[in-house]
Amino acid sequence: MNIVMQDVILKIENLSKSFGPVKALRGVNFELKKGEIHAIAGENGAGKSTLMNVIDGILQPDSGDIVLDGKAVKISSPTMAQQLGIGFVHQEIALCPDVSVAENIFMATTNVSRSWLMDYKKLEREAVDVFRQLSDIDPSVLVKNLSISNQQLVEIAKALTLDCRILILDEPTAALTETEAQTLFGIMRNLADQGISIIYISHRMVEIFDNCDRVSVFRDGQHIVTNDVADIQPSDVVNAMVGRVIDNLYPEKAAEGAISEETVLKVKGLSEVTRFHDVSFELKKGEILGIAGLIGAGRSEIVKGICQLEGDVTGDVWLNGEKLALRNYQDSIAKGMVYLSEDRKGDGVFLDMSIASNVSALKVEQVAGPLGLIQTGAEEAQAEALGRKLNLKCGSLSDPVSSLSGGNQQKVAIAKMLSVNPRLIFLDEPTRGVDVGAKSEIHKILRDLANDGVGIVVISSELPELIGVCDRVLVVREGRISGQVTGEEMTEENIMHLASVTDAQASVA
Ligand SMILES: Nc1ncnc2c1ncn2[C@@H]1O[C@H](COP(=O)(O)OP(=O)(O)OP(=O)(O)O)[C@@H](O)[C@H]1O
Ligand SMILES: [Mg+2]
Repeated sequence: MNIVMQDVILKIENLSKSFGPVKALRGVNFELKKGEIHAIAGENGAGKSTLMNVIDGILQPDSGDIVLDGKAVKISSPTMAQQLGIGFVHQEIALCPDVSVAENIFMATTNVSRSWLMDYKKLEREAVDVFRQLSDIDPSVLVKNLSISNQQLVEIAKALTLDCRILILDEPTAALTETEAQTLFGIMRNLADQGISIIYISHRMVEIFDNCDRVSVFRDGQHIVTNDVADIQPSDVVNAMVGRVIDNLYPEKAAEGAISEETVLKVKGLSEVTRFHDVSFELKKGEILGIAGLIGAGRSEIVKGICQLEGDVTGDVWLNGEKLALRNYQDSIAKGMVYLSEDRKGDGVFLDMSIASNVSALKVEQVAGPLGLIQTGAEEAQAEALGRKLNLKCGSLSDPVSSLSGGNQQKVAIAKMLSVNPRLIFLDEPTRGVDVGAKSEIHKILRDLANDGVGIVVISSELPELIGVCDRVLVVREGRISGQVTGEEMTEENIMHLASVTDAQASVA
């Protein structure tokens, strides 16, 4: 770890911010030093993004001060924040989908200062150069054609072109592959060495401990503690976050005999013209099945194909012994087979709708009265019960989902799946952006559902999660199942081997 220069560049003093009755920040103090990478950790809804939105001028504090270079400043807008040298990579992607990568990056620079004297061609070239450090994607492609992880890289490149002194990254790696994340960490350290200060928000302890200099923990809108990472352990951070000791991160695996001979899902010879080929597997009652693979291997495509969400699929699918003839995803829901999307903002939740109506959205007839009209009372009762189960942190159930913190939005997406009493759930990156406490709650719920006979299939890029939660893991490579692991064989090395080796000797258990 590098020697950190001692000057404090940014100081937050006794800062508070409420949203109606919700006290998002309560008398927060925080210091950022020049040239340090400062991690911020805290449970979902702890106030991390709110503090960053205040520093970026998106939100105005109710009270308290922001001191930049020793002078109290009022940051009245993001444009002003940019002029002060503050760059912000948001938790949620906010790009213009219909223009190119290069233009998206370059727009950020022209926002700050517009002048006839500007050399736009040069700026665009610079934007492209910055992006090339991060990715080998052609900068002329339209953003809407990029995967989520690549869109995230564009967001990062946008902030990097701004020539900032303070760079804020709010959970930037949630959607990145391991390699992309490592590239980003390299760039971050480089910037820090040049004296740029970085605020790095993450739920992943490994990232914090491998790449950051200091870490501050927030809980319930308050700053709890700041430490050098060299002086503490990951478990100290987790305990400070949740205010209690968490020892068992993962639930028990299926007990001896809990996995029955009965088959919940059977897939045979499933293919899609370009995306996957000859996929066959079974899921037993009581079992949690994982699907691993590199990004782009076809994991999401396969489960979306099974539910008829996309693709021109051939092959056979049986659910609890019944051969399915689904025409579309609505048919799949009717049969009790649902899919939790990895793209929360795109098709997981409706941000402008209330929490309660999101939860009931898949099967509104469950909360409708005799005339088919939605009954708000029934809707809220359902959301209330599921919200309690998932430890959802919100003001009122009639608030829009957009008012929730990122991790709590994810819990709404999960509640939406559970509301239809499914017989089989495919969960695609279910705990992305979810804090450690809530994550283990969700894992426990999955195990309980499996014990109740609900089929559970989990796709995750986080191998420890798959290994911790699943009884068996299928590995997908280039649109085919390259093997599976179970029991003792479930190790990161074995899974990575099956996911990447070209002519894998598939060691099917
Ligand atoms: N625009 C808003 N309107 C109402 N409430 C809000 C708004 N923005 C945030 N909140 C509330 O403020 C609290 C803090 O939210 P914040 O987004 O800062 O959490 P966070 O620490 O970033 O969590 P996460 O890890 O889930 O992203 C939450 O209770 C959230 O519901
Ligand atoms: Mg947040």
